[in-house]
Amino acid sequence: LAVAVAALVGGTGLAVSPGAPASHHHSFAAEPALGAPTKRFTLTAAMTTVRVDEREVKAWGFNGQVPGPQITATVGDILEVTLRNRDIKKGVTLHWHGYDVPNSQDGVPDVTQAAVLPGQEFVYKFRADQAGTYWYHTHSVSDLGVRMGLYGALVVHPAPITGVDVTLPVHTLSGHPLPAATTETVAAGSPVRLRLINTDNTTHRYALAGTAFGVAAIDGSDLRGPTPLQGTAVLIPAGGRYDLTFTAPATPVGLQVDGRAVWSTGEVSAATAGWPALDPLTYGAPAPPPWSHYDRDFTLVLDRGLDLHGLLPRYAHTVDGAAYPDIPTEIVHLGDTVKFTIVNRSMVVHPWHLHGHRVLVLSRNGKAATGSPLWLDSFDVRPGDVWEVTFKADNPGVWVNHCHNLAHADAGMMLHLMYA
Ligand code: C2O
Ligand code: CU
Repeated sequence: LAVAVAALVGGTGLAVSPGAPASHHHSFAAEPALGAPTKRFTLTAAMTTVRVDEREVKAWGFNGQVPGPQITATVGDILEVTLRNRDIKKGVTLHWHGYDVPNSQDGVPDVTQAAVLPGQEFVYKFRADQAGTYWYHTHSVSDLGVRMGLYGALVVHPAPITGVDVTLPVHTLSGHPLPAATTETVAAGSPVRLRLINTDNTTHRYALAGTAFGVAAIDGSDLRGPTPLQGTAVLIPAGGRYDLTFTAPATPVGLQVDGRAVWSTGEVSAATAGWPALDPLTYGAPAPPPWSHYDRDFTLVLDRGLDLHGLLPRYAHTVDGAAYPDIPTEIVHLGDTVKFTIVNRSMVVHPWHLHGHRVLVLSRNGKAATGSPLWLDSFDVRPGDVWEVTFKADNPGVWVNHCHNLAHADAGMMLHLMYA
């Protein structure tokens, strides 16, 4: 399977809105001020089949491919992306994972828009203000939709790029790893940036062998003072992204995911299984936090148990003992500094994900973060973990936060953050 980077450019710019937005919707006002798009893409969702290891596997693709076309932009671009749904009966949306778009463009069915049904389309438009590595995916029946293949990379460059820039979404399709091992010729001395995107429901372990490297960015935010690493693996949570940078040596370099070769510049045989994993909370150069007073303070207790709040009791992945839509909404005011304490009392990992905002990690299990300021949108809250994070309420609307093991999210581990 070729990982195509071509995108269909065109589209009329005419929106056929599939339905009225939910009544609690806020911010359509952002759109008219944007001006004419500088980059246009059309993503058509349709049933397809993809060849995986000699077998035909049923998939849902964008423009006939899994992952969908990579959307590449430069800071300042005005992106217009037309989503069309040919025949996905469960509906499709585009959520810009990690990208802090205006609320109306966030792509959450029944919260910011209606799901786009077969024959319908929806036009997303936003300005690319943040550089970095992100991804897009459907948020309608999100676990099934993403596992079937409705996702792709979103990469925003700070300026026109020089050097070698490679984007590697974890390629899986309904649990089958896609045959994505690629070999690329890279001239010795070239600067290389590997953009790693975990589009799966579970954590993956990435090991770069044959060179020293730095972690330049996590979840699209640059790290301060990244020091060189070697013989160290990185664990990327579901939904998360790491950008690894290095200068190509004269000898081959290879990247493994969970021990499987996915990208290299030549023959590399390295036993990476015993490598220690980087703790991002202690990596890089610290800086004082931008605020130390919190206007709002929420505690989220993640667990598994009986949700008694709905019409019928059900066993679910719960937050504060309830499941979506019965978990109380987090109410904030524009300009608030907000603190979340997230506690995992269950036996499984919950990769927490907040829409519309990135959070600064304060501490994990009582230990303060001592490395570079760590702004994340996806982080693994492991069994027994307590995470303290903070963010500025600077993007009005109604947003969701949820577990990015999307099976858990679909089973109720999701709640609303709302600006009063
Ligand atoms: Cu990538 Cu609501 O998630
Ligand atoms: Cu979970």
